[in-house]
Formats: sequence, C-alpha cells, structure tokens
Amino acid sequence: MVYEIKIYGNESLRTMAEPVQEITPEILEVLNNMVETMHNVNGVGLAAPQVGIAKRMFVIDIGDGIVRKIINPELIELSDIIENEEEGCLSVPGIYKAVKRSVTVKIKYLNEKGEEVIEEGTDLLGRAFQHEYDHLEGILFVDKISPVAKRMVSKKLQLLKKEFGKN
Ligand code: CO
Repeated sequence: MVYEIKIYGNESLRTMAEPVQEITPEILEVLNNMVETMHNVNGVGLAAPQVGIAKRMFVIDIGDGIVRKIINPELIELSDIIENEEEGCLSVPGIYKAVKRSVTVKIKYLNEKGEEVIEEGTDLLGRAFQHEYDHLEGILFVDKISPVAKRMVSKKLQLLKKEFGKN
C-alpha cells in the first residue's frame, strides 16, 4: 500500500516521533508500506512522520542494493568533517538547497528482526541517515539551509503550506 506523503505545513512533520515499543506485525507492515511509498516516487529515504505516523522509524534505499528499515535510531557519532551538499525532501517538493552535514555518521538502530545494528554511513548514506533522523525530531532540511537560501525559498514554502499543509 502506498501512503500519502505529507507536505510542508502539515503538523505531523513537526511532531516529535515516539519510540517503537515492540516490533509487531503492524509495525512491519507499516515499514513495508513505507518502502513501497518511497519506491513509488523514486525517493532515497522516507520517515514515518512523513506519512503521518509519529513513530521513530525510517526507510532508506540509496541504490546500493540494500533496503534499510530502521527502527529507534540513535546517531552515536558524527564526523567533524562537514560537507555542504544539495538536498531535497519528498515533503518539500520542488526545493533543493545545500545543507551542511557530517560526512560520516555512526548510527545504532534495530532492524526489522529486532536485532541491534551499528552502521557507519558516509556521503549519501551518511547524509540520508541524518536527514531522516531529523524527521523524527520534527526537523526539516529547509530549517538548516543558509539564511540567504531561506529567503530565496520562503515564498515557495508559503505556497506549499497554503496548498498542501492541511492535508
Ligand atoms: Co525528508
């Protein structure tokens, strides 16, 4: 099942997500649906709050042959080396701006079997971990762009909010 993706202005994107208490069949089904939803729009990542589900989980497919289903993640190490690279977000359509992020990040999470995984992600994967993790905290990439970039997109953001924000 493909979910409707919530767009900028929707309050579910600004809600702090709750930890997953137990990996139930329902949770696994939500994760499968999130993967389907992400693939349906050729996305690299999708977090549960983006489909209106306030749980700490996200899915990532950067095209390396691994579809990651990530539950209760913690970013346990962020490299001091920062890169300013362009990002977009399925919930902020049509806007692409550079965001400063650590190049490498170590993440700890539960996989769909409930096993604890510690993984290091660099470049696109590291960026995806950080971007999706932010969604669980109610943070969007446009919150982190430069003041100049913010001014450039403020009108577009207002329009998104007006058009889709209530859905
Ligand atoms: Co996003």
